[in-house]
Amino acid sequence: MPYYRSIGEIPRKRHTQFRKPDGGLYAEELMGQQGFSSDSSLLYHRHLPTAIVAADEHTPPPSTRGPNLPLKPRHLRTHKLDPGPGTDPVLGRARLLANDDCRVSYAVADRPSPLYRNAIGDECVYIEAGTARIESTFGVLDATEGDYVIIPTSVIHRIVPVGETPLRTLVIEATGHIGPPRRYLSARGQFLEHAPYCERDLRGPTEPLLEDGTDVEVYVQHRRGWTRFTYANHPFDVVGWDGCLYPWAFSIHDFEPITGRVHQPPPVHQTFEGPNFVVCSFVPRKVDYHPEAIPVPYNHHNVDSDEMLFYTGGNYEARRGSGIEQGSISLHPSGFTHGPQPGAPERAIGVDYFDELAVMVDTFRPLDLCEAAVACEDPGYAWTWAGRSGPSSGHGGGGVDPATG
Ligand SMILES: [Fe+2]
Repeated sequence: MPYYRSIGEIPRKRHTQFRKPDGGLYAEELMGQQGFSSDSSLLYHRHLPTAIVAADEHTPPPSTRGPNLPLKPRHLRTHKLDPGPGTDPVLGRARLLANDDCRVSYAVADRPSPLYRNAIGDECVYIEAGTARIESTFGVLDATEGDYVIIPTSVIHRIVPVGETPLRTLVIEATGHIGPPRRYLSARGQFLEHAPYCERDLRGPTEPLLEDGTDVEVYVQHRRGWTRFTYANHPFDVVGWDGCLYPWAFSIHDFEPITGRVHQPPPVHQTFEGPNFVVCSFVPRKVDYHPEAIPVPYNHHNVDSDEMLFYTGGNYEARRGSGIEQGSISLHPSGFTHGPQPGAPERAIGVDYFDELAVMVDTFRPLDLCEAAVACEDPGYAWTWAGRSGPSSGHGGGGVDPATG
């Protein structure tokens, strides 16, 4: 994270005696990235963060992952995935797409997750609907519709749905770290003037979260599988911390769009970067204002990327006939040229505003299809630019979202 925070009680000097009211020492923990050479935080625990009393292998439900063959553009209807009541936002994730750099899942949840640590990489949890408390060793983050929550690697946390509305999340799990695009940061990590958001838009925990308990289970996802640790004491025992590594939230509604006289390319929408992928936000905005502008994308083929687009809000009337709906995901792989549906460029001329909300993940390695993608796929999508329903499907319709393409 780009800037320093200090929460709760910490000693005047790092690595010095910091004592509890009973005279004992607090247990200092450094949590840091890239082998002591990047961002870190120092946390002060009431109990030893090393004290585990059991470790059991955990076997998640079987998952499948296969290549996008035959190569086709895909349309996934995530709202067709209905896990039913009693699902939690971590163990209840439905895996959609994956490569070795990131995994994309969708979850509909109505009960708290267990305590959880992802030791593989950072997670970006995007909230499509509902409200949640993200509780961690760093404190509480309240999150709601439109929030991206970035949870750094190995932070012990749980996601607690709040209220009556089920929590709908799109989750991007990275093999590595997720952060703001480097080109938007100064050498010391401050957001620059041309960035579409800045420090004022980011939220972090504001006070410690302290819970009592013994023999507390924590699910750990690591590169070789899953393990369930039992900690001697509740991990939420941090009286204070400081540093530049912590969970944080950013609302897509605080993303200030960059617009132009003619069509702007997707990098203006970039919000985060991860290892071999980027995350972009398409938000309501004034569109291209050259008098001769065509305010939809040209047909395009970004030959080095697979492009996944999650439609999370806005007016879908303009996409009538395309099959795209709230919660849809389109996957436009490398090796396939995509673009607006027939007639969309003509219809867009003279339009000055698009009311749309979408999250895009562009990956530099191909995305494989996982079991939940197969379960909710609209099989007719690939043929819609040709105006056909396809060789084996009765699905008809137009094509893709005219604004984001
Ligand atoms: Fe595209």
